[in-house]
Amino acid sequence: MARDILVTSALPYANGSIHLGHLVEYIQTDVWVRFQKLRGHNCVYVCADDAHGTPIMLKARDMGIEPEQLIADVGAEHKQDFDDFLIGFDNYHSTHSDENRELAAEIYTRLEKAGHIARRTISQAYDEEKQMFLPDRFIRGECPKCGTAEQYGDACEVCGATYQPTELINPVSVLSGATPVERDSEHYFFQLADFEAFLHDWTRSDHLQEAVTRKLDEWFEAGLKDWDISRDAPYFGFKIPGTEDKYFYVWLDAPIGYMASFANLCKRRQAEGKALDFDHFWKADSDAELYHFIGKDIVYFHALFWPAMLEGAGYRTPTAIHAHGFLTVNGEKMSKSRGTFIKARTWLKHLPAEFLRYYFTAKLSGKVEDLDLNLDDFMARINSDLVGKYVNIASRCANFITKRFDGQLADTLDKPELFERFAAAADEIAEHYEQRRFAQAVRQIMALADEANAYVAERAPWQLAKEEGREDELQQICTTALNLFAQLTIYLKPVLPETAERAEAFLQVGDLTWADLATPLTGHEIAKFKPLLRRVEQPAIDKMIEASQEDLAAKAAPQAEAEAPKKAATKPADKKPDTADGDDKIEIGDFAKVDLRVARIAAAEHVEGADKLLKLTLDVGALGTKQVFAGIKSAYAPETLEGRLTVMVANLAPRKMRFGLSEGMVLAAGDSPHILSPDDGAQPGDKIK
Ligand code: 2FM
Ligand code: ZN
Repeated sequence: MARDILVTSALPYANGSIHLGHLVEYIQTDVWVRFQKLRGHNCVYVCADDAHGTPIMLKARDMGIEPEQLIADVGAEHKQDFDDFLIGFDNYHSTHSDENRELAAEIYTRLEKAGHIARRTISQAYDEEKQMFLPDRFIRGECPKCGTAEQYGDACEVCGATYQPTELINPVSVLSGATPVERDSEHYFFQLADFEAFLHDWTRSDHLQEAVTRKLDEWFEAGLKDWDISRDAPYFGFKIPGTEDKYFYVWLDAPIGYMASFANLCKRRQAEGKALDFDHFWKADSDAELYHFIGKDIVYFHALFWPAMLEGAGYRTPTAIHAHGFLTVNGEKMSKSRGTFIKARTWLKHLPAEFLRYYFTAKLSGKVEDLDLNLDDFMARINSDLVGKYVNIASRCANFITKRFDGQLADTLDKPELFERFAAAADEIAEHYEQRRFAQAVRQIMALADEANAYVAERAPWQLAKEEGREDELQQICTTALNLFAQLTIYLKPVLPETAERAEAFLQVGDLTWADLATPLTGHEIAKFKPLLRRVEQPAIDKMIEASQEDLAAKAAPQAEAEAPKKAATKPADKKPDTADGDDKIEIGDFAKVDLRVARIAAAEHVEGADKLLKLTLDVGALGTKQVFAGIKSAYAPETLEGRLTVMVANLAPRKMRFGLSEGMVLAAGDSPHILSPDDGAQPGDKIK
């Protein structure tokens, strides 16, 4: 029976580019959705940009544009990236939409009527210069427990204490440098504890992975706290109904964005005359299924707040939350200086999307584990599995059919039992896909590919082709091999949708489905074979890494790269709720590690093959001469730089770039960019304090 299934991935913030870390999630969700569709289920996949909150408001302000403009631009970029990674959303919307405004208001109103919203006046840090309340992340000061300087407003990284921002000693606003004052304001709270019994039961009823349930236990023990769902103006978001200057906190309307995107799809479908019923999927006793794929850092929001909100507002709750771990590259956290902080677009400029899809799929276990992209392993695996095993079956047999039999497959198979065995693997492979044990699915598929190759090697059609009177055998063997190839194509189709399309064109069949696994293709004409995939070569990977480094060099900002260790998870919500990712602050101690020196530009040259870089030879006094590649070509002719003083980071680990070794970084400001210069009198090698 066809199932009705609604699937979501977490909504990316509308203020930054999609990178490989994001793609771990979108790829696995998409593979799962494509699998469900391939099996004939009515599966719908929706997502949206997460468009509200302080960071987005401030970024737009910094850029001198309206937030609406920022979220429109970023939304368009995200959509293009997702399309090009073959993420097949049925709908991609925005949380800043009419549907979301209406649904957020409705859910809030229902919760309010049912008595789940409390109001209390609280005192918060306020920046009088910027005239706004400061989210925790925008205040720094000394820890009230241990006195360490430069701590965020919510928790101390040194002693682990958690506290209110108002408790910080000598706090300053990160936005203006002003000392925040305390100001009272009325806030609205969702009383999570009203749902304690419901949540206790819900989190233990097969909706969550075991590791997630265990994590939640800690939070239950700590007690479910009221959740502050309002923010004061100025804020980019939706006004709370019945108020003049209170806004929903971004995380209140973000998950409602899943519903809103679906509602928007229902409207679109209706306009096309294809019915999709919102209530059927969202009513309290719905028998449709609902799955949310998320990262492990946002479990608190999805496994507690969200089911409680839905339950309290009379909607259905999720069938399951599928949480996954984070991405590492070559065994380490993605790093801008190592060139492993790779944006989706940078990948696409150098490598096919499907290769990343395959690699991630081959490594995903369905558990909440981190996933490593090891680039050597990546290359070996793609070349061996996809090119060496899968495509190889077709490329070794197709030409005989084309040249010797006018493209006509035989009427019978040489070894029908092999075809049957491939078909019989369907249930087990399907179960792996269904349970998101993708690595196991891929392992089994590749074991079949090995069998197919062993069969071809044993029958050696190239030998038979030389012998007279063995035409029928040759045709049947190649037909068998191509049928095994077709079955493997179906098994891999959720992962490699584009390659599957090319394979379908070659086999001259329509849109292959899971059901086609059981029916051999015989007495049928196929097209001439064209190579389906190309090998990965090392230079493509090197160039991608260099391009990621070059992105960084081109931006060479005065602060050391944002590679400070992530803040310890000292609060139940691992993620600081009000910030977009990627804006970690560094400690004063970390800053002291940066050796800033005055340097004289002894020589400046163009770099062949680099769009953005100049090669600088820097005289750093007692530290000698250093070679640095700086992303300043757009702003300076090399000859204008020679002899000039500037400031460099002298103790940056040397980076090997395509053009040579870069032994530091020159400080530059702004988009232009302008390189920094010390005042007269500074000498090469002087340390900046
Ligand atoms: O953590 C994040 O990136 C959030 N933008 C995810 C939101 S998911 C959903 F709840 F909207
Ligand atoms: Zn402390």
